[in-house]
Amino acid sequence: MAFFLRKIKDLTSKIDKSRLPVHIGIIMDGNGRWAQKRGMMRIYGHKAGVKTVREIVKACSELGIKYLTLYAFSTENWKRPLEEVNFLMDLLVEYLSKEVNELNKNNVKINFIGDISFLPKKCKVEIDRAQNITKENDGLVLNIALNYGGRDEIVKAVKKICHKVVNKELSIDAITEQIVSENLYTQNQPDPDLIIRTSGEKRLSNFLLWQSAYSELWFTDVLWPDFNKKHLIEAILYYQTRKRRFGGI
Ligand code: IPE
Ligand code: IPE
Ligand code: MG
Repeated sequence: MAFFLRKIKDLTSKIDKSRLPVHIGIIMDGNGRWAQKRGMMRIYGHKAGVKTVREIVKACSELGIKYLTLYAFSTENWKRPLEEVNFLMDLLVEYLSKEVNELNKNNVKINFIGDISFLPKKCKVEIDRAQNITKENDGLVLNIALNYGGRDEIVKAVKKICHKVVNKELSIDAITEQIVSENLYTQNQPDPDLIIRTSGEKRLSNFLLWQSAYSELWFTDVLWPDFNKKHLIEAILYYQTRKRRFGGI
Protein backbone atom coordinates (compact mmCIF):
# COMPACT_ATOMS: atom_id res chain seq x y z
CA MET A 1 0.00 0.00 0.00
CA ALA A 2 2.75 2.44 0.98
CA PHE A 3 4.58 1.56 -2.25
CA PHE A 4 1.41 2.13 -4.27
CA LEU A 5 0.79 5.53 -2.65
CA ARG A 6 4.40 6.59 -3.31
CA LYS A 7 4.05 5.53 -6.95
CA ILE A 8 0.87 7.63 -7.29
CA LYS A 9 2.63 10.59 -5.67
CA ASP A 10 5.57 10.22 -8.08
CA LEU A 11 3.26 9.99 -11.08
CA THR A 12 1.15 12.94 -9.91
CA SER A 13 4.27 15.09 -9.60
CA LYS A 14 4.92 14.52 -13.33
CA ILE A 15 1.64 16.18 -14.29
CA ASP A 16 2.00 19.69 -15.70
CA LYS A 17 -0.72 21.46 -13.73
CA SER A 18 -0.85 24.28 -16.24
CA ARG A 19 -1.83 21.90 -19.05
CA LEU A 20 -4.48 19.73 -17.48
CA PRO A 21 -7.32 18.51 -19.69
CA VAL A 22 -10.25 20.75 -18.80
CA HIS A 23 -12.81 18.11 -19.70
CA ILE A 24 -12.31 14.34 -19.48
CA GLY A 25 -14.86 11.87 -20.83
CA ILE A 26 -14.79 8.23 -19.77
CA ILE A 27 -16.43 5.24 -21.45
CA MET A 28 -16.59 2.96 -18.43
CA ASP A 29 -16.54 -0.45 -20.08
CA GLY A 30 -15.79 -4.03 -19.07
CA ASN A 31 -17.90 -4.56 -15.96
CA GLY A 32 -19.58 -7.68 -17.34
CA ARG A 33 -16.33 -9.29 -18.44
CA TRP A 34 -14.70 -8.47 -15.08
CA ALA A 35 -17.44 -10.43 -13.30
CA GLN A 36 -17.52 -13.29 -15.80
CA LYS A 37 -13.76 -13.76 -15.48
CA ARG A 38 -14.43 -14.43 -11.79
CA GLY A 39 -17.30 -16.80 -12.49
CA MET A 40 -19.79 -14.25 -11.18
CA MET A 41 -22.92 -12.78 -12.70
CA ARG A 42 -22.46 -9.61 -14.76
CA ILE A 43 -24.28 -7.48 -12.19
CA TYR A 44 -21.43 -7.97 -9.72
CA GLY A 45 -19.19 -6.24 -12.22
CA HIS A 46 -21.48 -3.23 -12.21
CA LYS A 47 -21.44 -3.19 -8.43
CA ALA A 48 -17.64 -3.28 -8.44
CA GLY A 49 -17.62 -0.54 -11.06
CA VAL A 50 -19.30 1.86 -8.65
CA LYS A 51 -16.20 1.75 -6.42
CA THR A 52 -14.13 2.87 -9.38
CA VAL A 53 -16.56 5.72 -10.05
CA ARG A 54 -16.10 6.88 -6.47
CA GLU A 55 -12.30 6.76 -6.72
CA ILE A 56 -12.10 8.47 -10.11
CA VAL A 57 -14.52 11.28 -9.25
CA LYS A 58 -12.50 12.00 -6.12
CA ALA A 59 -9.23 11.88 -8.03
CA CYS A 60 -10.49 14.26 -10.74
CA SER A 61 -11.71 16.65 -8.07
CA GLU A 62 -8.36 16.59 -6.30
CA LEU A 63 -6.38 17.01 -9.50
CA GLY A 64 -8.41 20.09 -10.42
CA ILE A 65 -10.18 18.69 -13.48
CA LYS A 66 -13.09 21.01 -14.27
CA TYR A 67 -15.45 18.64 -16.15
CA LEU A 68 -15.78 14.87 -16.02
CA THR A 69 -18.33 13.04 -18.17
CA LEU A 70 -19.02 9.42 -17.27
CA TYR A 71 -20.87 7.24 -19.76
CA ALA A 72 -23.19 5.22 -17.54
CA PHE A 73 -25.97 3.98 -19.83
CA SER A 74 -26.32 4.38 -23.59
CA THR A 75 -29.47 4.64 -25.68
CA GLU A 76 -28.47 1.19 -27.01
CA ASN A 77 -28.09 -0.40 -23.57
CA TRP A 78 -31.87 -1.00 -23.45
CA LYS A 79 -31.13 -4.03 -25.64
CA ARG A 80 -29.75 -5.81 -22.57
CA PRO A 81 -31.80 -8.29 -20.53
CA LEU A 82 -34.43 -6.54 -18.43
CA GLU A 83 -32.91 -7.79 -15.17
CA GLU A 84 -29.57 -6.17 -16.01
CA VAL A 85 -31.23 -2.89 -17.03
CA ASN A 86 -33.26 -2.85 -13.81
CA PHE A 87 -30.17 -3.61 -11.78
CA LEU A 88 -28.32 -0.70 -13.37
CA MET A 89 -31.21 1.69 -12.66
CA ASP A 90 -31.36 0.54 -9.03
CA LEU A 91 -27.60 0.92 -8.74
CA LEU A 92 -27.86 4.50 -9.93
CA VAL A 93 -30.51 5.29 -7.34
CA GLU A 94 -28.35 3.69 -4.65
CA TYR A 95 -25.21 5.52 -5.79
CA LEU A 96 -26.94 8.90 -5.80
CA SER A 97 -28.69 8.47 -2.48
CA LYS A 98 -25.48 7.31 -0.81
CA GLU A 99 -22.99 9.66 -2.43
CA VAL A 100 -24.75 12.93 -2.97
CA ASN A 101 -23.88 14.41 0.43
CA GLU A 102 -20.21 13.50 0.08
CA LEU A 103 -20.13 14.87 -3.47
CA ASN A 104 -21.81 18.03 -2.26
CA LYS A 105 -19.22 18.40 0.51
CA ASN A 106 -16.52 18.12 -2.13
CA ASN A 107 -18.11 20.96 -4.11
CA VAL A 108 -19.04 18.64 -7.04
CA LYS A 109 -21.87 19.77 -9.29
CA ILE A 110 -23.89 16.84 -10.63
CA ASN A 111 -25.40 17.19 -14.06
CA PHE A 112 -27.20 14.52 -16.08
CA ILE A 113 -26.96 14.37 -19.84
CA GLY A 114 -29.23 12.12 -21.88
CA ASP A 115 -32.96 11.59 -22.16
CA ILE A 116 -34.05 11.02 -18.61
CA SER A 117 -37.75 11.38 -19.46
CA PHE A 118 -37.99 7.62 -20.14
CA LEU A 119 -36.38 6.53 -16.89
CA PRO A 120 -38.25 4.96 -13.98
CA LYS A 121 -39.78 7.50 -11.58
CA LYS A 122 -37.44 6.55 -8.71
CA CYS A 123 -34.43 7.45 -10.90
CA LYS A 124 -35.90 10.78 -11.91
CA VAL A 125 -36.57 11.66 -8.26
CA GLU A 126 -32.94 10.96 -7.25
CA ILE A 127 -31.60 12.72 -10.33
CA ASP A 128 -33.59 15.88 -9.56
CA ARG A 129 -32.55 15.73 -5.93
CA ALA A 130 -28.83 15.30 -6.75
CA GLN A 131 -28.86 18.09 -9.32
CA ASN A 132 -30.73 20.40 -6.98
CA ILE A 133 -28.58 19.83 -3.92
CA THR A 134 -25.36 20.42 -5.85
CA LYS A 135 -26.48 23.13 -8.25
CA GLU A 136 -24.61 26.01 -6.59
CA ASN A 137 -21.30 24.12 -6.40
CA ASP A 138 -18.42 25.46 -8.45
CA GLY A 139 -15.95 22.59 -8.21
CA LEU A 140 -15.84 19.61 -10.55
CA VAL A 141 -18.82 19.36 -12.91
CA LEU A 142 -19.75 15.69 -13.00
CA ASN A 143 -21.81 14.89 -16.08
CA ILE A 144 -23.46 11.50 -15.86
CA ALA A 145 -24.47 10.32 -19.33
CA LEU A 146 -27.59 8.26 -18.82
CA ASN A 147 -29.84 7.04 -21.60
CA TYR A 148 -27.37 9.06 -23.63
CA GLY A 149 -26.62 8.65 -27.32
CA GLY A 150 -24.60 11.08 -29.40
CA ARG A 151 -26.88 10.63 -32.42
CA ASP A 152 -30.02 11.05 -30.32
CA GLU A 153 -28.52 14.22 -28.86
CA ILE A 154 -27.85 15.62 -32.34
CA VAL A 155 -31.38 14.71 -33.53
CA LYS A 156 -32.84 16.49 -30.51
CA ALA A 157 -30.68 19.55 -31.23
CA VAL A 158 -31.83 19.57 -34.88
CA LYS A 159 -35.45 19.47 -33.74
CA LYS A 160 -34.95 22.34 -31.30
CA ILE A 161 -33.28 24.42 -33.99
CA CYS A 162 -36.06 23.62 -36.50
CA HIS A 163 -38.65 24.79 -34.00
CA LYS A 164 -36.83 28.09 -33.63
CA VAL A 165 -36.69 28.49 -37.41
CA VAL A 166 -40.40 27.69 -37.80
CA ASN A 167 -41.22 30.16 -35.02
CA LYS A 168 -39.04 32.74 -36.78
CA GLU A 169 -36.73 33.07 -33.77
CA LEU A 170 -33.79 32.03 -35.93
CA SER A 171 -33.03 32.26 -39.65
CA ILE A 172 -31.53 29.31 -41.54
CA ASP A 173 -28.45 31.37 -42.40
CA ALA A 174 -27.86 32.03 -38.70
CA ILE A 175 -27.37 28.29 -37.98
CA THR A 176 -23.72 27.77 -37.13
CA GLU A 177 -21.62 25.17 -35.35
CA GLN A 178 -21.96 27.37 -32.30
CA ILE A 179 -25.77 27.18 -32.52
CA VAL A 180 -25.65 23.40 -32.79
CA SER A 181 -23.32 23.19 -29.76
CA GLU A 182 -25.66 25.40 -27.77
CA ASN A 183 -28.53 23.00 -28.39
CA LEU A 184 -26.73 19.91 -27.13
CA TYR A 185 -26.94 18.59 -23.58
CA THR A 186 -23.43 19.92 -23.00
CA GLN A 187 -24.35 23.52 -23.84
CA ASN A 188 -21.93 26.01 -22.24
CA GLN A 189 -19.36 23.30 -21.55
CA PRO A 190 -16.03 22.88 -23.32
CA ASP A 191 -15.59 19.84 -25.56
CA PRO A 192 -13.75 16.91 -23.98
CA ASP A 193 -10.00 17.24 -24.33
CA LEU A 194 -9.40 13.62 -23.44
CA ILE A 195 -11.61 10.55 -23.83
CA ILE A 196 -10.67 7.38 -21.98
CA ARG A 197 -12.13 3.96 -22.78
CA THR A 198 -11.45 0.91 -20.68
CA SER A 199 -11.75 -2.81 -21.53
CA GLY A 200 -9.76 -2.88 -24.77
CA GLU A 201 -12.55 -1.78 -27.12
CA LYS A 202 -11.47 0.97 -29.48
CA ARG A 203 -14.70 2.66 -30.43
CA LEU A 204 -16.85 5.53 -29.25
CA SER A 205 -20.14 3.59 -29.05
CA ASN A 206 -22.21 6.75 -29.62
CA PHE A 207 -20.43 8.80 -26.92
CA LEU A 208 -20.18 12.60 -27.38
CA LEU A 209 -20.06 12.30 -31.19
CA TRP A 210 -20.23 16.02 -31.92
CA GLN A 211 -18.06 17.08 -28.99
CA SER A 212 -15.28 14.54 -29.62
CA ALA A 213 -14.25 16.06 -32.97
CA TYR A 214 -10.78 16.95 -31.64
CA SER A 215 -10.54 14.93 -28.44
CA GLU A 216 -7.42 12.95 -27.69
CA LEU A 217 -8.28 9.27 -27.26
CA TRP A 218 -6.69 6.93 -24.72
CA PHE A 219 -7.53 3.24 -24.61
CA THR A 220 -6.59 0.65 -22.05
CA ASP A 221 -7.21 -3.08 -21.73
CA VAL A 222 -7.90 -2.60 -18.02
CA LEU A 223 -11.52 -3.44 -17.17
CA TRP A 224 -13.50 -0.66 -15.48
CA PRO A 225 -13.67 -2.25 -12.00
CA ASP A 226 -9.84 -2.52 -12.05
CA PHE A 227 -9.28 1.03 -13.29
CA ASN A 228 -7.78 3.34 -10.67
CA LYS A 229 -6.13 6.70 -10.02
CA LYS A 230 -2.80 5.45 -11.37
CA HIS A 231 -4.39 4.66 -14.74
CA LEU A 232 -6.13 8.03 -14.76
CA ILE A 233 -2.82 9.79 -14.22
CA GLU A 234 -1.21 7.70 -16.99
CA ALA A 235 -3.97 8.85 -19.35
CA ILE A 236 -3.41 12.49 -18.37
CA LEU A 237 0.36 12.13 -18.84
CA TYR A 238 -0.25 10.62 -22.29
CA TYR A 239 -2.56 13.55 -23.07
CA GLN A 240 0.19 15.97 -22.12
CA THR A 241 2.57 14.40 -24.63
CA ARG A 242 0.17 15.08 -27.54
CA LYS A 243 0.58 18.06 -29.81
CA ARG A 244 -2.91 19.28 -30.55
CA ARG A 245 -3.04 20.93 -33.93
CA PHE A 246 -6.79 21.31 -34.50
CA GLY A 247 -6.14 21.15 -38.22
CA GLY A 248 -3.29 23.64 -38.13
CA ILE A 249 0.42 22.84 -38.47
C1 IPE B 1 -19.98 -1.12 -18.99
O1 IPE B 1 -19.68 -2.45 -18.79
C2 IPE B 1 -21.13 -0.64 -18.19
C3 IPE B 1 -22.35 -0.35 -18.97
C4 IPE B 1 -22.47 -0.38 -20.27
C5 IPE B 1 -23.52 0.00 -18.19
P1 IPE B 1 -20.37 -3.57 -19.66
O2 IPE B 1 -21.61 -4.01 -18.99
O3 IPE B 1 -20.55 -3.11 -21.06
O4 IPE B 1 -19.29 -4.72 -19.59
P2 IPE B 1 -18.82 -5.66 -20.77
O5 IPE B 1 -18.38 -4.77 -21.88
O6 IPE B 1 -19.99 -6.49 -21.16
O7 IPE B 1 -17.71 -6.44 -20.19
C1 IPE C 1 -20.63 1.77 -23.99
O1 IPE C 1 -20.37 0.46 -23.62
C2 IPE C 1 -21.71 2.33 -23.12
C3 IPE C 1 -21.33 2.60 -21.73
C4 IPE C 1 -20.16 2.46 -21.22
C5 IPE C 1 -22.39 3.09 -20.91
P1 IPE C 1 -21.08 -0.78 -24.35
O2 IPE C 1 -20.54 -1.99 -23.71
O3 IPE C 1 -22.54 -0.60 -24.33
O4 IPE C 1 -20.57 -0.61 -25.85
P2 IPE C 1 -20.42 -1.68 -27.01
O5 IPE C 1 -21.74 -2.39 -27.13
O6 IPE C 1 -19.33 -2.62 -26.63
O7 IPE C 1 -20.06 -0.89 -28.22
MG1 MG D 1 -19.40 -3.22 -22.71
